[in-house]
Amino acid sequence: GELREWHGPTQVVLSPIQLRDSDGDLTPIVIGSYPLLDEAESLKALDAAVRAYDHGRGEWPTMSVAERIAAVEKFTRLIVAQKKEIVQLLLWEIGKSAADSEKEFDRTVDYIRNTIDALKDIDRDSSRFTIEEGIIGQIRRSPLGVVLCMGPFNYPLNETFCMLIPALIMGNTVLFKPPKHGALLHFPLLKAFTEAFPKGVVNTVYGRGNTIVPALMSSGKIDVLGLIGSSRVADSLKKLHPKSNRLRAILGLDAKNVAIIMADADLDVAVKESVLGALSFNGQRCTALKLFFVHESIAEEFVRRMAEEINKLKPGMPWDDKVNITPLPEPQKPGYLGECLEDAQGKGARIMNEGGGMCAGPLVYPALVYPVKDGMKLWREEQFGPVVPVASFAHVDEAIQYIIDSDHGQQVSIFSSESQEVANLVDQLVNQVSRVNINAQCQRGPDTFPFTGRKDSAEGTLSVHDALRSFSIRTVVATKQ
Ligand code: G3H
Repeated sequence: GELREWHGPTQVVLSPIQLRDSDGDLTPIVIGSYPLLDEAESLKALDAAVRAYDHGRGEWPTMSVAERIAAVEKFTRLIVAQKKEIVQLLLWEIGKSAADSEKEFDRTVDYIRNTIDALKDIDRDSSRFTIEEGIIGQIRRSPLGVVLCMGPFNYPLNETFCMLIPALIMGNTVLFKPPKHGALLHFPLLKAFTEAFPKGVVNTVYGRGNTIVPALMSSGKIDVLGLIGSSRVADSLKKLHPKSNRLRAILGLDAKNVAIIMADADLDVAVKESVLGALSFNGQRCTALKLFFVHESIAEEFVRRMAEEINKLKPGMPWDDKVNITPLPEPQKPGYLGECLEDAQGKGARIMNEGGGMCAGPLVYPALVYPVKDGMKLWREEQFGPVVPVASFAHVDEAIQYIIDSDHGQQVSIFSSESQEVANLVDQLVNQVSRVNINAQCQRGPDTFPFTGRKDSAEGTLSVHDALRSFSIRTVVATKQ
C-alpha cells in the first residue's frame, strides 16, 4: 500500500490482525494508506467516465465486442501476474484465511473467463434476426452508461469484479470505489486498468464513502448503481439521484437466511452444513445462515452436536491453515456482537459452547445461542459475524411465518430426509426467497446460478450470464419487409 504520487490527505489502514507486544498487549499493525479524494476530485473522475462514454458515442461503447473482450483478457493476464500480492493483501486487510483468499482470487479469474464465454453466447443471440408481422427485428444488447461500482468488504475483489467486468464488457464506463476494508488490495490493479482499457473507461475513486458517494449520486450523472452492501445505504443513495426514475440499480443487500431443521433430518448432514453455513469466514457472508429453526423434538440434540463441532474450531491468525476463525475487520463488530449476546442472555437464552463470544481484540470466538426468541436482537437483526442463534418450533408453519414476515428474502436451507415433506416446503418457500437449498447450506455459487433476493435483499440479478443482462439493455433494429 505505498503511495508515491499523492500529496493530499490519506487514510491509514490498520490490519485486523493484531500481534502482542513485549508487554503482552495487542497492537494494531499499519499496513498502508490510501488517498482521500475530496468531492471535487471524485467528480472529476466521474466526468472522465462521462466523457469516455460520451452518450454512447465514445470509443469504448462503440468498440466491437471482440475488441472489448481482448481488453478484458489483457486485464486478466495482468492481474493473474499479481496474484501473490493481491492474495496477501486480502489476508492482511480483511483477515481472510490464506486458503480462502486464494479461493477468492481464483474464483474471480474464473468468473471473468466464464463471463467472456457467456458473452459469446449472448452476442450470438444479438446477431439473431426474427421476423414477426412482416417486420425483421434484430435484438441487440447495448450499454446503459456510467456505472458506479462498489463491492463489499467480505469479498472486496470477487464481488467488485462480478459487477465491474460485466459492466465493462457490455460497453459501459465505470467509476469504481473500493470498500473501506479491502481498499489497498486494489492498488496493484490500478496499473492494469490503465494498461488494458482506454482512458476514462475505468476510474478508481479512493475516499470517504459518506462524503464522495453522495456527491457522485447527487450529480445525476450516474446511470447505474452497482452496489453490494446494506439496504440502508442503497436506499439513501438512490434518493440522492435527482432523476431517480432514470437510475438503474443492481444491488446485493442484507439477508437473514434461515435454516429449517425438520424432526427427520439427517443430523450428521445438518450439523456439518450448519457449521459451514453459519461460520465460514466468521459468518461474514450475506449468504450465511443467520437463524436456525429446529423442530422441538431434536432441538437439544442439534444444539449439543453443534456445540461439539463449534468447540473444535480453532481461532487464530489467517496464515495458519489449521485456523477456522480469524480477526474481524470491522472495528465496531466485536462490541455489536457483545450487545447481541448480552441482550439474548438478558431475555433467557444461553451460550451453549465453551468460551462463546469471548474476544481477544478483533478475534471473536463463535457463540451458539439457544433458545432465541422473538423480541431478542438476534431474532431479526443481521449479525454478520460468528454468532449462531437457534430457535425451536412445534410446527414448521412458525418458521415459514417468520420468513413471510421478514424484510429479507434471499435464501433458505431445509434439512429433512422425507422427500414429500421437502417438496411441500419447497413449494411454499420458492415464493418467499430466491433460492431454496435442500440438505445444504445457503451459498451464492456456482456462479452460473442466478444470484438475487426478494424484498430488501436485492435488486436485479447477478451471475455469469445474468450480470451481462443486468448491465445492458435490449434494443431492437426493426426493418419493415
Ligand atoms: O456476502 C455475500 C456473498 O455473496 C456470499 O457469497 O455464498 O459465495 O460466500 P458466498
